[in-house]
Amino acid sequence: MIKDQASKLRDLSKIKRLTDEHLHPVRRLAVTSGKGGVGKSNLSLNLGLAWQKLGRRTLLVDADTNLANIDILLGITPKYTLADAILRGAFIADVLVDGPEGLRILPAGSGVVEMVGLDDLVQDRLVRGLEELEKSRDLVLLDTGAGIHEGVVELAGGCDEVIFVTTPEPTAITDAYAAIKVISSRNAAIKPYLLVNQARSSEESEEVSRKICLVVENYLAIHLEPLGFLPLDPHVPQAVARQTPFLLAYPRCPASLNLMMIARRLLKLPPSNSGGTLFRQLFFRSRTHEPAGRTK
Ligand SMILES: Nc1ncnc2c1ncn2[C@@H]1O[C@H](COP(=O)(O)OP(=O)(O)OP(=O)(O)O)[C@@H](O)[C@H]1O
Ligand SMILES: [Mg+2]
Repeated sequence: MIKDQASKLRDLSKIKRLTDEHLHPVRRLAVTSGKGGVGKSNLSLNLGLAWQKLGRRTLLVDADTNLANIDILLGITPKYTLADAILRGAFIADVLVDGPEGLRILPAGSGVVEMVGLDDLVQDRLVRGLEELEKSRDLVLLDTGAGIHEGVVELAGGCDEVIFVTTPEPTAITDAYAAIKVISSRNAAIKPYLLVNQARSSEESEEVSRKICLVVENYLAIHLEPLGFLPLDPHVPQAVARQTPFLLAYPRCPASLNLMMIARRLLKLPPSNSGGTLFRQLFFRSRTHEPAGRTK
């Protein structure tokens, strides 16, 4: 009798777990841009913190393989990166960093590039480890490098939703278009969003969003969802200098207020599943890391 009840309980908890996983699939979002230095890392880190504040368990993957710097924005020195898990057998759990507000951070580090040619068994072990880790999260947010390099395109294309960041500068706008074009052609099922950073006014941001969305619609037949903007705000560089995320250092500053709005907005938008295999993309990288060239 007791044995019967125990096995019933086990079945029930199994059903609950399977249902939970089905009902709450993790959302994988990448933050990327055509031009460098437009604010991706600051956005990713603070968006992750905003979601934690809103009760969503988030994993932030620092996947900028050239200049990983989420750790610098936080003033921390991670003991290990994903490269240590690959090359030196460190456990994924040891690579994970516990950030503020319960945000979990995975420093991919520049070693990721060296993972090409990794033994299949090691790859499988790591991918399974990462997928297991993902199960306890609601959102995975990936901070990528800039540009249309093969590595960036593969990583962003492995996500379900991609936030393209631009500033109002013409060069950033042109490069954002190139990134949208290349990443969407790699995986047509991704859901693309546009975020204008460092806008001087809401009018300026609306004008930039309208222009890009129109060109993307007309020339690429892609619906680009505008997310809004973060204002040009001196609190952001001040927070960078203090190595404290602006949302925590200055929670009432204009950038923080807009960021919270964008974080809420993204949670309300329906999630998407692009069929991308993000964690496999971390390992199955192309050997060439040459820029793919400008595509206009
Ligand atoms: N809304 C903002 N207002 C004022 N300054 C900003 C804003 N957003 C970012 N910055 C500044 O822009 C600089 C670049 O930001 P960040 O490192 O986040 O860009 P990035 O796109 O990740 O760069 P990279 O392409 O090198 O990875 C930082 O010094 C930051 O202070
Ligand atoms: Mg960055």
